[in-house]
Amino acid sequence: MDWKDGYITGIEYVHGVYRELAPSVLNMALLLQSLEPIPLQEGFTYCDLGCGQGESVNLFAACHPEGRFHAVDFNAAHIAGARTLASRTGLKNATFWEASFSQLESITLPDFDFVVMHGIYSWVGEENRRYIREFLRKKLKPGGVVYLSYNSLPGWSPHAPLRQLLSSYADSQPGTLEQRVDRAVAFAERLKEAGIALFDGGTSTRDFFEYLCTLPRNYIAHEFFNRDWTPYYHADVVRELAPAGLAFAGAANFVDHQDMLRFSQPQQEILDEVADRVLRETLKDFTACPMLRRDIFTKGRPRLTPEEQVERFRAQRLALVVSAGSLERKALFPVGEVLFDRELYDPILAALDQRPQTLDQLMQRDELASLRIGRVVEALLVLLSAECLLPAVEPPLLATIAVKNLNAALLDRELNNLEKLSLASPVLQNALKLEWLERLLIACQSTGAGSDPVPWIWDNMKAHNHKLSRDGEILMSEEDNLAELRSQAETFRNEKLPLLRKLGIV
Ligand SMILES: C[S@@+](CC[C@H](N)C(=O)[O-])C[C@H]1O[C@@H](n2cnc3c(N)ncnc32)[C@H](O)[C@@H]1O
Repeated sequence: MDWKDGYITGIEYVHGVYRELAPSVLNMALLLQSLEPIPLQEGFTYCDLGCGQGESVNLFAACHPEGRFHAVDFNAAHIAGARTLASRTGLKNATFWEASFSQLESITLPDFDFVVMHGIYSWVGEENRRYIREFLRKKLKPGGVVYLSYNSLPGWSPHAPLRQLLSSYADSQPGTLEQRVDRAVAFAERLKEAGIALFDGGTSTRDFFEYLCTLPRNYIAHEFFNRDWTPYYHADVVRELAPAGLAFAGAANFVDHQDMLRFSQPQQEILDEVADRVLRETLKDFTACPMLRRDIFTKGRPRLTPEEQVERFRAQRLALVVSAGSLERKALFPVGEVLFDRELYDPILAALDQRPQTLDQLMQRDELASLRIGRVVEALLVLLSAECLLPAVEPPLLATIAVKNLNAALLDRELNNLEKLSLASPVLQNALKLEWLERLLIACQSTGAGSDPVPWIWDNMKAHNHKLSRDGEILMSEEDNLAELRSQAETFRNEKLPLLRKLGIV
């Protein structure tokens, strides 16, 4: 295998931005756990260990001119790509280091308020985990915050043999990494067709494998083809990080803060009987069986009193990340479907559809003043958990300019990438994923083709042999493509563009 320290290097990782890594989201998660958020406006330091393509760091650096961002990865192609994007954007506050975790001691880094690691801890060997823990012990400031994702047990237990099957078969094969990945997947496909017990023995591994086959090859390679892989019980991660001075603070994804949306009443009652927090959190994984945990640890972050927590939450601006009109009045959570009571949710959504607002501002509106504040808070927590809302700010001019430059560079780089990809919002200080055609329609605005984008897009589509689909069918004729393009451009103008304007993306 093309390994360095046991980790594959012969194939680049996907370009992904993960919202949970955003300083504003980490702060919101701290607030939900009654911990004092890190004051961002005064300037802060942020480090991404194993940053991959560095897309998240570039995006957060553009949104936070007041922050100093560092990112480390030993894959030269990843670091080169991240540096190119930073220099095309004119970012001065993001530094990318081509270095392995074993070299962390030898690079000149400041002490950090935030250290994030997404897709690292389970996928490297014990020696590298030791370097990481030592780095956290030495370089995370007192009061600092760590984001750490890892494959979790028991959620992974039924599927661990699939990883063994894929990686041992790939190991036995000649050829490039790409060829071996493809051969291993094709081999597992044949075993599945032959009805082996791994896929048909009562586990959901068949579904998992079929889902896996829909993912990009480079994602599969980085997920399954490293030498080392250790899924963890939550309690074991807590124990490993304790000597670095770290304690578990809470989950990075908002829904995991809401037991009522995750667990049935009988499940909650059993979990509530368990006084030990680490055991309770670990038992939650036996109840929900997630395959990935996204945890936040802190080095002695100050606690807020209940009054302080309420005061901070009331003053926190929140923004809708979908237009209220297109939002279904329901959301699916692990406990089942939650219907949005229209009397409560409609006025909240209508108000937030106008502009991002704080709870205090919402409560001053006539249509909401008669509602109990507790009900409004509950609705906001449900909307946050359903990923319809994100924390928001009134962006400073510097951030607006940096984001404009970053988005222009991203639009240009990914013009013909048909995947759903992220652009930055200075209001959210975070990413919003957009479809390929939506991005082309945005790109048109800066080409002067904004008044009628269709001819420009159609020329672009013809040059790359792209075709549109309607009702799942690819449209073959120029006439059908142009008609569909006009219809989608019209929908975009009426429904999506107003939202993108509010979020500062256009
Ligand atoms: C699964 S990817 C995750 C990338 C990124 N955090 C993300 O979520 O998009 C793991 C990354 O860690 C890097 N990596 C693995 N072992 C490393 C080591 N020992 N030193 C530095 N980087 C390493 C890889 O090159 C790869 O980019």
